Amino acid sequence: MTDNGILLKGINIKRVFKTGKEKLKVLKGIDITIERGMIHTIVGPSGAGKSTLLHILGGLDRPTEGKVMLDGNSLYDFRDEELAKIRNKKIGFIFQFHHLLSEFSALENVMLPSSIDGISSKKASEKAKNLLTEVGLSDRIDHKPNELSGGEKQRVAVARALINNPSVIFADEPTGNLDSKNSDMLLSMLLELNRKGGITLVIVTHNVGIANRIGNIIRMEDGKILGVENDV
Ligand SMILES: Nc1ncnc2c1ncn2[C@@H]1O[C@H](COP(=O)(O)OP(=O)(O)O)[C@@H](O)[C@H]1O
Ligand SMILES: [Mg+2]
Repeated sequence: MTDNGILLKGINIKRVFKTGKEKLKVLKGIDITIERGMIHTIVGPSGAGKSTLLHILGGLDRPTEGKVMLDGNSLYDFRDEELAKIRNKKIGFIFQFHHLLSEFSALENVMLPSSIDGISSKKASEKAKNLLTEVGLSDRIDHKPNELSGGEKQRVAVARALINNPSVIFADEPTGNLDSKNSDMLLSMLLELNRKGGITLVIVTHNVGIANRIGNIIRMEDGKILGVENDV
């Protein structure tokens, strides 16, 4: 890819789920461009295919048809092992439910993705501590997920998503289970990461307010993109 402004491109993405004899066409030919350093907000009703699209763009689920180009590479041309490496290095994910491992402390959860990358555990631990401090959890590093509030768990998830300095963070309704105070805090944190660190964001959220000042709003319905509003 020659255009430096484009980080990721989804080309004619289709996803069919087979359940028993039925075939469910969940994504019906999606074309989407994710620009470097920008905030992209995906909105649409429940069942529209937003999570499915995010997983495919983020290297977590192979499309039935179509391509995802990340930094000029066709993601799904790689085998699973290689794909996992690329994903781990370039992509951060924040889910609606934090997906932290309950047996591990906040610090260990944040360190986990770095261990695959062959960084020394001392370095990883230092970095994880710094990130947890940045998200305001310096006094919670040894807590297990069940000893943290919902907002704190999501902040650990943000730190985990950042450990390998990804180019892009995908966040799937990251504030879906938070009260409005914690939602605002988490969204401001993500916005700061974009504003200060230039990280590209792709967020599925019902809180469209955040995209109103910066970025695109991508409207999805029934497996298709209805339109993109540019609010820059
Ligand atoms: N693994 C799966 N197997 C079968 N159907 C699925 C699977 N994942 C999602 N779906 C279906 O695909 C549709 C879109 O789901 P999803 O992408 O989660 O939508 P959204 O995130 O917009 O609410 C839904 O009807 C859902 O039931
Ligand atoms: Mg969803």
